[in-house]
Amino acid sequence: MWFDKACQAADYIKMKITEKYKDYKAPKVCIVLGSALGSFADRIESPLIIPYRDIEGFSVSTVSGHAGRLIYGFVKENPILCMQGRTHIYEGNSPQQVVLPLRACTLLGAKNVVLTNAAGAINYDYNVGEFMVIEDHLSFFLDSPLFGKNEDDLGLRFPSMDEAYDKELREIAIECAKELGISVHSGVYAYMKGPQFETPAEIRALRILGADAVGMSTVPETIACVHAGAKVLGISCLSNLAAGMSEKKLSHEDVNRMEDIVAKEFGDWMEALICRL
Ligand code: HPA
Repeated sequence: MWFDKACQAADYIKMKITEKYKDYKAPKVCIVLGSALGSFADRIESPLIIPYRDIEGFSVSTVSGHAGRLIYGFVKENPILCMQGRTHIYEGNSPQQVVLPLRACTLLGAKNVVLTNAAGAINYDYNVGEFMVIEDHLSFFLDSPLFGKNEDDLGLRFPSMDEAYDKELREIAIECAKELGISVHSGVYAYMKGPQFETPAEIRALRILGADAVGMSTVPETIACVHAGAKVLGISCLSNLAAGMSEKKLSHEDVNRMEDIVAKEFGDWMEALICRL
């Protein structure tokens, strides 16, 4: 059922792409832009913009800062698919609904998927405005998008999560950041259901469990992409110190405010990365 829905969405997107460009070039990469990172989409040349509401099966985000547009186009002549905004489970979507766009994008031939997000820094060595390449994740609180009868066309019943975030992609991303003088860490991302921010006690517990940053997205998509056999790179923009780590009360506005601060660095980094894939 979810495979059929993903195929239907992929067929529609492919039809729109071939309407604009005669020969279909499979995207080298699919990049999902999270909170505060949406402006990267402005760098895409000759963009074909498809609003999520036009694609059957795609949910439209209710969160500010998530535009809700799928963009096919070129970054330095490399064909890419870009999801400008995502939906979250806390918006009332099922995990399967949340990952449907990624399943469609992998069916369209994207073998590399870059999942980005804004996250709270848990590690004391991290600073606001820096980035973290996700090395691994904690997903204890997630209802897996793979729940239910397995659809073999989508992937294996028991996919391995030994290297959910592809080692080679992580190395390339870190190298590109170093070349550009961008400060990046490598760490563990903890998924929390949200939408309320965490309590200070939850953050202390997550730190003991080994988390370096916390957020409310990305992990469902990672699991679906690994299931589909795609390589995943996860990138967190550290938009705030996690709950209890500063005097300031957390707010979504502060998360979105990071956009102007990180847009250039993030855009240059992603451009360099896409050229290296
Ligand atoms: N917690 C959870 N999600 C987030 C945070 C946070 O501190 N910052 C940005 N997304």
